[in-house]
Amino acid sequence: MKQFIIIGHKAVTAPFSLNDLPGAAGRMDILCRCVNATLFLSHDLRRDVRVYLVLKGEPDPPKLIRFDGNEVRYLSPDERSAASLIKKALEKSAQEFWTESMPGVSIRKGDFGDLLSELNKKIIYLREDGEDIRGKRFEEPLFVLGDHLGLTDEEEKLIEGYEYEVVSVGPLSLHADHCIVLVHNEMDRQEKEKEV
Ligand SMILES: C[S@@+](CC[C@H](N)C(=O)[O-])C[C@H]1O[C@@H](n2cnc3c(N)ncnc32)[C@H](O)[C@@H]1O
Repeated sequence: MKQFIIIGHKAVTAPFSLNDLPGAAGRMDILCRCVNATLFLSHDLRRDVRVYLVLKGEPDPPKLIRFDGNEVRYLSPDERSAASLIKKALEKSAQEFWTESMPGVSIRKGDFGDLLSELNKKIIYLREDGEDIRGKRFEEPLFVLGDHLGLTDEEEKLIEGYEYEVVSVGPLSLHADHCIVLVHNEMDRQEKEKEV
């Protein structure tokens, strides 16, 4: 199982219009692209992947949304489709435990720290100035990425409470969803090598 967490500092925590994902929905477009990059292959889904979104925007933060590649249905590879599943999840009243809103999509109340403590795993924190990903091998990895704002000092402090590594996918600052594609590519190549 490969797991990804993406933090949406402005992403709204109540149902939103699908017509303004970057604006009124608080850069929900970034999170939707990350869901797609995390889960989609061409004409298939990555079944061994889970992606968690941390929504920290108004009016009722924080909330966590989980997409499970093995269970998810009714998701197509466009931003609006992922957004519509996130919106449906936000229509549920979030509890302290996971509640499924649609197959493979669940929501709960909670912040980044709650999620890290629930998963309780070594963290691979993706950051521009980290160690080069080339040659690294990951077992059941948990990756953390930021949105357009990166991670706050407080969020970095939370990561430091766990075993962690800071890893870079290259010398330039990229969009989070592009980083996810590169990370998958590294792991895909390693898995293919193991097979031969
Ligand atoms: C658009 S970037 C954030 C830029 C933000 N202005 C900052 O300074 O952190 C979004 C996220 O993608 C990831 N990221 C971007 N470029 C990366 C790179 N070269 N290596 C690893 N992660 C990267 C980081 O997790 C970052 O928080």
